[in-house]
Amino acid sequence: MRIVPGPASTELARETADLLGEELLTIETKRFPDGEVYFRFLDDISGENVVVIQSTGPPQDNNLLALFLLVHTAKDLGANSVTLVVPYMAYARQDQRFRPGEAVSARCVAELIGKSGVDRVYTFEIHKEHILGYFGVPAYSLSTLPVIHRFLSDMDTKNLLVVAPDRGAKSLAQQLSQMLGTGFGWIEKFRDRVTGEVSISTCNADVKDKNVVVIDDMISTGGTIAKAARHILDSGAEKVVAICTHLLLVGDAEKRLREAGVNEIIGTNTIPSKFAKISVAPLIAEAIKDGL
Ligand code: R5P
Repeated sequence: MRIVPGPASTELARETADLLGEELLTIETKRFPDGEVYFRFLDDISGENVVVIQSTGPPQDNNLLALFLLVHTAKDLGANSVTLVVPYMAYARQDQRFRPGEAVSARCVAELIGKSGVDRVYTFEIHKEHILGYFGVPAYSLSTLPVIHRFLSDMDTKNLLVVAPDRGAKSLAQQLSQMLGTGFGWIEKFRDRVTGEVSISTCNADVKDKNVVVIDDMISTGGTIAKAARHILDSGAEKVVAICTHLLLVGDAEKRLREAGVNEIIGTNTIPSKFAKISVAPLIAEAIKDGL
């Protein structure tokens, strides 16, 4: 097996290769003066099982193009199989036509990836499971809860409550609360499809004097978690820790979360950042060992 470190996931690829006892392939990379990207595989991969690890967080379009070029080239150079690990799948939130005439971006991106030469795809906590069917090749969304749970297992769970900031995160929050042996609750959220503005109505759990873990699949502008945190703290909670798989943290998201009173921000390294304290490398290594 040979592992290709995509430019958006070099550290994660290195860690995964170490866990698997494999070497990383060397890829020469440069940009032409007009901004176009160039890749060259320096190793012979003909007949090999190749794993490309490339996330597609911001800048999404650049990272997607790098993904297409790496996968396509691996196949073109005679790889026996190409497994793609795309830790964060861009465009997944536009998984349907919410308003007439909109692009169904998730389907378009998944179909293009499926046609680029991959034999199978792994991702984490995909926004909606039905997107997996659009790849046209076997595609799996892995749960990050095992590594999140491991990370939190030192926490004092006596006064802990796990809360979902919207309906979409209910299952995540419920599963984590079961793993930790704590209570759980959820918040009703409404997002204006045109302005993107988030408003919330109620939280169904008693958060008074609790340490609350708010868990979501992703934090982008921070609007969802900020509104949830403010509501929870105004309802008497002691502390709010925000945890998510994909930390996009665009613009002044960090400031927004801090101003809302979030005490700690924790993410996984599906998208690298200073808050990516939880590694998904063991989950990738395990999936690859089982799947190849
Ligand atoms: C939405 O359904 C997602 O699960 C997240 O709640 C949302 O994408 C987070 O975005 P933001 O941080 O911009 O509110």
